Amino acid sequence: MLQLHVNPARIIGDRNPMLYGHFLEHFHRQVYDGVFQPGHPLSDEDGFRTDILDAMRKIQIPILRWPGGCFVSTYHWKEAVGSNRNPMFDKAWRVEDPNTFGTDEYVKLCRKLGCEPYICTNAGTGTAEEMSDWVEYCNLETEGKYAKWRIANGHEKPHAVKYWSIGNENYGHWELGAKSSEEWGLLTRESAKLMTHVDPTIELSAAALTDVAWNLNLLQNCGRYLNWISIHEYWDMMPEENSPASYEECMAFTDKIDHSVNEVRGILAAMKLDDKIKIAFDEWNLRSWHHPKVHSYPLGVGKDSYLTPRDKNDDNSIYTMADAVFSACFLNAMNRHCDVVGMANFAPIVNTRGCIYSHDKGIVLRSTYHVFDLFVNQMGDRVVDLWQEGDMPTMTVPHKRGGERAVDALDILATTFTHKPGMAISAVNKSPDQAETISIPLSTPGKITLFTLNGDSKDAYNDVDHQGVQVVETDLGTHADSLTITLEPHSVNVIRID
Ligand code: AHR
Repeated sequence: MLQLHVNPARIIGDRNPMLYGHFLEHFHRQVYDGVFQPGHPLSDEDGFRTDILDAMRKIQIPILRWPGGCFVSTYHWKEAVGSNRNPMFDKAWRVEDPNTFGTDEYVKLCRKLGCEPYICTNAGTGTAEEMSDWVEYCNLETEGKYAKWRIANGHEKPHAVKYWSIGNENYGHWELGAKSSEEWGLLTRESAKLMTHVDPTIELSAAALTDVAWNLNLLQNCGRYLNWISIHEYWDMMPEENSPASYEECMAFTDKIDHSVNEVRGILAAMKLDDKIKIAFDEWNLRSWHHPKVHSYPLGVGKDSYLTPRDKNDDNSIYTMADAVFSACFLNAMNRHCDVVGMANFAPIVNTRGCIYSHDKGIVLRSTYHVFDLFVNQMGDRVVDLWQEGDMPTMTVPHKRGGERAVDALDILATTFTHKPGMAISAVNKSPDQAETISIPLSTPGKITLFTLNGDSKDAYNDVDHQGVQVVETDLGTHADSLTITLEPHSVNVIRID
């Protein structure tokens, strides 16, 4: 049995609420036929699906990144504001975008959700001037033509968009308007200059990755202007083949789940920027999105080869306890790195691989939704020291790309609250078939509540007419000196000690 010793006096850090952020892209059914459905019986007067908004509010979204993702690298924001919206051909995803959901609609969505907008700009075919014009439109009171355009469009007050990022994955061969690291350093520097000359109070990020050359160029040229550096990661790569990894293979992906953070943290520290620049892990998901023959070459010709297959992302049976267990391990890891990771954005929030699935009559809360519900509403905001006495159970699992991995069977994080007494421990049991028992010595008597997210099997999932995954809340009463809890296999647990 593993004994957990929590030392609330030894504080690792206060996590930024933006660690539980989300992402919305103009892809498939995330915006159109997703959260934005004007005229739908379940939509409000602004065209937003109220059932989806209610679910989003319950997980208290702190920040919502938009409009992409690959989409943004050929997006021109000026075509999607004002009364004259003309459809554009989205060259990234090769579909027509009606441009009826643009900056003003997006900001309205964020106001309804009570979350921070976070705009990613077009550094593919866009220019530094187009990016800074966007800041003018959103943030200047009345000066210049873009602020006046916003007012003419019915928005007297500035949108006050604080968070901006320059570009998406411009390092990638798949990205339209990809750049070399030298080009990237110069483009980000000039874009950052113009954007901050418009509004020096914005917080700026720029696309990066775990590559020294790329980040050196970026940080040497643009580091002085940046507050954030953006990285992305997907583990179960399925862009071409929609072949989900098994539960056990997903557990192999938890091995070194924070390697990207460690690599980028090292570069920031070496450049003495780790106090100034934080990591925005602004796209992450166990499962990469399925969109064959559009990131690769040859491109699909018939829509059945590159468009129709995207509907496979909507197969709810893919999103099992593997997704919930992996996501809880990821969020535990980001909490442990809360001194350098200030934002993380689940990619995406609605439909595709999102935690909320929408259909014509309502929504489905996938397994990952309940992870956010537990972390946002039950976990503390202060990460504290936890050490484990006894042998950590391990398990050997197959890796999707071959071979095996030996991984810890448990992943545990301890938190306290900056605004109230008590403690919350997230205890994930990754084992596909073994229950594990932990004990926690208590320094003072506490009322114990156990929240267990689980299903009747490791492959359980939720769907329109099928509730296979749920959170069970158990009052374990008051304990004085120690607490022993058995964690079910393939389960995500939060232990509240109040
Ligand atoms: O698969 C979706 C894409 O993943 C996003 O648009 C992009 O940012 C990332 O490559």
